[in-house]
Amino acid sequence: MTPSWTLRRLQTVDDDQIDGLASVLIDCVEGGASVSFMHPLTRERAAAFWRTVARGVAAGERALIVAEDADGICGTVQLIFDLPENQPHRGDLAKMLVHRRARRQGLGAALMKAAEATARECGKTLLVLDAVTGGDAERLYARLGWVRVGVIPGYALMPRGELCSTTVFYRNLAS
Ligand SMILES: CC(C)(COP(=O)(O)OP(=O)(O)OC[C@H]1O[C@@H](n2cnc3c(N)ncnc32)[C@H](O)[C@@H]1OP(=O)(O)O)[C@@H](O)C(=O)NCCC(=O)NCCS
Repeated sequence: MTPSWTLRRLQTVDDDQIDGLASVLIDCVEGGASVSFMHPLTRERAAAFWRTVARGVAAGERALIVAEDADGICGTVQLIFDLPENQPHRGDLAKMLVHRRARRQGLGAALMKAAEATARECGKTLLVLDAVTGGDAERLYARLGWVRVGVIPGYALMPRGELCSTTVFYRNLAS
């Protein structure tokens, strides 16, 4: 079946795209995802976050991939390359977000594959991420072959205040 979205890497991020990315982030936080922000997340705070990301993209410190459907941006993932000088081969995978309207159709997996391909194109051989233990994302990463390192108990808060643990994963792109 042909997917209902298209994926692309943004080299610059305009105001409409910041608005679309803010909508995806707000939807994920409303839906209970632990992705750095507490509920309720205002549009202003969400847009401010994406403006900071946009500056990182323009500076070459981050790669930003977005998925778009008929209603606009419906998913996104980032690679952070702004790391210490002794880790030039490595990237952190972050802010993997799929709007609830687009979930469970394979978009999460497609974004991960696109991020891995982008990392390879950028000469990276090792990716690291963490995900809420027991959540949808943890299952996705394990299914795609990421290696589970371990669990850090009580690592962060869910958007409505309860503590959650995080599972750290890595992916060796050289093998
Ligand atoms: C985690 C997340 C990114 C997954 O996105 P997604 O687009 O739903 O991911 P996929 O569609 O690839 O896979 C999700 C499930 O749908 C299933 N699926 C995929 N394609 C499908 C299809 N065509 N029909 C039915 N099911 C399908 C997958 O098998 C998977 O099943 P599982 O959850 O039982 O393991 C999404 O839930 C999300 O954004 N969550 C909130 C933010 C978050 O927690 N981000 C992670 C930060 S680390």
